[in-house]
Amino acid sequence: MSGVRPERRPVDEQESLRANRADWDAYADEYQSTHGEFLGDSGFLWGPEGMREDHVHALGDVAGRDVLEIGSGAGQCSRWVLEHGGRPVGIDVSMRQLQHSRRIDEEHGVVVPTVCASAAGLPFRDASFDAVFSAFGALQFVADAKALVVDAARVLRPGGVFAFSVTHPTRWMFPDDPGEEGLVASQSYWDRTPYVEVDDETGETRYVEHHRTIGDWVAALAQAGFVITGLLEPEWPPDHERTWGGWSRVRGVLTPGTALYVARLGVGSST
Ligand SMILES: C[S@@+](CC[C@H](N)C(=O)[O-])C[C@H]1O[C@@H](n2cnc3c(N)ncnc32)[C@H](O)[C@@H]1O
Repeated sequence: MSGVRPERRPVDEQESLRANRADWDAYADEYQSTHGEFLGDSGFLWGPEGMREDHVHALGDVAGRDVLEIGSGAGQCSRWVLEHGGRPVGIDVSMRQLQHSRRIDEEHGVVVPTVCASAAGLPFRDASFDAVFSAFGALQFVADAKALVVDAARVLRPGGVFAFSVTHPTRWMFPDDPGEEGLVASQSYWDRTPYVEVDDETGETRYVEHHRTIGDWVAALAQAGFVITGLLEPEWPPDHERTWGGWSRVRGVLTPGTALYVARLGVGSST
């Protein structure tokens, strides 16, 4: 298999979608076998530090609520919503991730309805959900995050909750390395140029991630009619030794790795 080289350059929505769909389809089996146990078949994990919805209650009570998960992967979070009395729907761009979702559903005799589509253009009617969330799902994979935030507002009912976790924006200053190298700031926090991995042999774009500063997320939420009710930056737990990509104890005790934004749609907001 050929290698990839990282670079920073502008990438549009179509190229991001094409690369990330193929990447998640190819990576899904390994992702689920590596992280599935930690995620839990019906576990709601907000990020590699191990922060769980059972403790933070970002969505509030989901019982009897219509809940959309963006970038739902194998549906672990949505299954947690189901177990807590909610009506979840998942959307994910990767068919292979959704096949894992179906596999886990069948093992537990439950059904989490899913749609295979990009989150860039949510295929749902206006005001159809009480809560929309994403745990490291599509927010950092789409080129136009502002449009996705506006779309989340559109599909929410007034007063609905929008919560999403992403790589903490300050992490973009550092190389994505779980060791000491990942502690030396070498890139501008304000450089929004996407991170791209390019196939060495074919020159094809294999993976894309988009960066927004904390201020960008605040502006996107405010402009879409949301009131921000929380920004959680989980600390690295004392007994947590798991390394997950660039997330590790070495970095986690010094720099935040995850940002969880929690917002409520203002009553009377229209987008
Ligand atoms: C890190 S996983 C998060 C899923 C789940 N919360 C978990 O922790 O396993 C990211 C998910 O986002 C999906 N994704 C990436 N880009 C997407 C897009 N544009 N629209 C919808 N889903 C997308 C991927 O297929 C993948 O399943």
